[in-house]
Amino acid sequence: MPIETTPVFVTRGTGPAPDAELVAVPFGPGPALAPDAAPWLELPVPVDALLAHYEAKGEPGEVVEAPTARDGGVRRVLLYGIGDGSAAASRKAGAAVARRAKGRASLSVVVPSEGRAAALAEGALLAAYTFTIGDGRAKPVKEIVFIGGDERDLREGETAARATALARDLVNTPSSVKTPAWLAEQAKAVAAGAGLGVRVWEGPELGEFGGIRAVGQGSISPPCLIQLSYTPDNPRAHVVLAGKGITFDTGGLSLKPTEGMKAMKTDMAGGAAVIAVMSALAAVEAPVRVTGLVACAENSISGSAQRPGDVITQYGGRTVEVLNTDAEGRLVLADALAYAHAELDPDVVIDIATLTGAAKVALGPSIGAVYATDESLAAALLEAGEAAGDRLWRMPLVEDYRTMLESDVADLANVDREKSGAAGSIAAALFLREFTGGRPWAHLDIAGPARAGSDEGEITKGGTGFGVRLLLRYLAA
Ligand code: BES
Ligand code: MN
Ligand code: ZN
Repeated sequence: MPIETTPVFVTRGTGPAPDAELVAVPFGPGPALAPDAAPWLELPVPVDALLAHYEAKGEPGEVVEAPTARDGGVRRVLLYGIGDGSAAASRKAGAAVARRAKGRASLSVVVPSEGRAAALAEGALLAAYTFTIGDGRAKPVKEIVFIGGDERDLREGETAARATALARDLVNTPSSVKTPAWLAEQAKAVAAGAGLGVRVWEGPELGEFGGIRAVGQGSISPPCLIQLSYTPDNPRAHVVLAGKGITFDTGGLSLKPTEGMKAMKTDMAGGAAVIAVMSALAAVEAPVRVTGLVACAENSISGSAQRPGDVITQYGGRTVEVLNTDAEGRLVLADALAYAHAELDPDVVIDIATLTGAAKVALGPSIGAVYATDESLAAALLEAGEAAGDRLWRMPLVEDYRTMLESDVADLANVDREKSGAAGSIAAALFLREFTGGRPWAHLDIAGPARAGSDEGEITKGGTGFGVRLLLRYLAA
């Protein structure tokens, strides 16, 4: 599964091997070709004429295929546009060539000297990602040889791509396999591989975690809380990441209709992002201590499921009236946030969750919503997202709306009691804020971008791994 394509990094001087099956050469709106690519590039017509013929402008994503005379035979070359050479353009360019090489044994990519090697490699490897159970579809290219470019940069792109692919795998795994216990096993395997500390609360150990227990009580697969710890020497700060790990969201007794339930195996995408980020912190040499929490439960229906109107006690003692069992993500996350505040003494807390359909309606499939109680944290996340290719948009914590969450019988209600239906994503953020103890906190609602309906650039259909590259960039800085 994950990324089956093997990247190989070679220095530019060597050029592509004479028997290279498929060679990709960059071109841009500026100088037509990477100069050192030209000597061995024997095109049937001058390159300018060829590009003009195809009306190719050098935009990222453009790929012009041409035959070349090489090694006494005819081979194919892919001329690929690199646009302005920005990270975003390079990612898109890398993705386009990797897709063109689908089903091939090998692709050699000449890395443009003026482009971003990390982003090019990241885009190519992420576009080569596949998840199939069985043997149905065309295989991704087996090997990509990157010619030229700084090897450290290229490896950086590979690290980000592999972490993102891990999140995609976890998200794409069907919920018949993906129980909370299965997620905990995956986290333990990641911890062993990356040298992280790991602790899992399950069964009676979840005693105080009333939100996690209530959401999980209707399922035959019991809930759990996963904690992963990364501690570098002399850490600059302590960041807690909390992910929503709902392994399947039926809505509970507030049952979802078929259409709304179809994609709900992806409702642990926030938790998957946390596990994936933790897996790569050592590789990116993050200078901060990071604790990852994943609050896992299956939101199922049965005679033991929680009911609308039940009152639960969250970690720390606050009571919540559960007016809608489909607003379950905030219940499991509230426990994680309250625990982080009480026990971990973090400098910054960031949660990431497929929390509300409203966030998806507001921002669509390409952009995540970010809420923050701290200006510099918001700015840092927005910047990291822009640079990493996981775009965010800041949303307001509207104080006037806080009264929506008042309950007649408990400290809080889990949804708007008036059922106005307005500002659902903001209401959820305001609910979570109650459990942060006033610490600098940001909330990422990734209900839109966590899942893609089709392949596009470095994004592949299904789980996208949204948030992994953004958080890695934020934590590595
Ligand atoms: N997991 C859903 C949110 C979601 C919806 C994610 C669509 C991805 C795509 C969440 O648990 C949920 O059901 N939220 C409710 C909240 C409502 C009951 C206040 C929603 O958005 O409808
Ligand atoms: Mn739900
Ligand atoms: Zn959910």
